[in-house]
Amino acid sequence: VTRTVYYVGASLDGFIATPDHSLDWLTSRKTDDDGPMGFGSFMEGIGAMAMGATTYLWVREHEPDWMPERPVWVFTHRELEPLHGADLRFTSEDVGRAHAAMVAAAGDRDVWVVGGGDLAGQFADRGLLDELVVAIAPVTLGSGAPLLPRRVELAVREVARNGDFAAVRYDVRRPEAGVT
Ligand SMILES: NC(=O)c1ccc[n+]([C@@H]2O[C@H](COP(=O)([O-])OP(=O)(O)OC[C@H]3O[C@@H](n4cnc5c(N)ncnc54)[C@H](OP(=O)(O)O)[C@@H]3O)[C@@H](O)[C@H]2O)c1
Repeated sequence: VTRTVYYVGASLDGFIATPDHSLDWLTSRKTDDDGPMGFGSFMEGIGAMAMGATTYLWVREHEPDWMPERPVWVFTHRELEPLHGADLRFTSEDVGRAHAAMVAAAGDRDVWVVGGGDLAGQFADRGLLDELVVAIAPVTLGSGAPLLPRRVELAVREVARNGDFAAVRYDVRRPEAGVT
């Protein structure tokens, strides 16, 4: 069964980028791709991806060769320049409708919600987010792009150290599961 997973790196105080969209505080740290909740094994299980316009523009500017070979839904209201070699679908449709297409494209793999936080929240609002995996960097930023600007109830499933990070896997608890 395809799960929809928000897999992300965050500061201890819940930001995923500085106010000027720098990720230096994240990318400068040690992490093991093959370690607990590491990126390598995570990516093997991913069949489709979703990201917002700011995240897409960051990748295009800073890491244009990074985009994995997966279909990527980019949520935007603008006409953005495509990234050569990437399998992109620019969309402004409701995340619920787009999600059905992502799940179909993912086959027996999972859907990765790359970010930002509000986009992940839009999936959560519709009951479509199954899991949050957060690699907590040993730093506080004070301000920036928020991790998940909603109230979302979670249950811890896995906790581990990976390099400089404290990694936590949470199941998203749905209201019908008895959360009050
Ligand atoms: N730490 C990490 O692991 C990590 C992961 C991901 C991202 N990041 C960083 O975090 C920051 C996130 O930026 P952000 O908070 O601005 O979030 P974002 O989701 O990357 O971008 C937000 C933009 O996406 C578009 N959008 C969102 N929902 C939409 C919808 N339903 N329909 C159409 N368009 C939609 C809107 O752009 P329009 O103006 O086109 O309408 C919106 O302004 C970036 O700096 C990124 O690089 C960090």
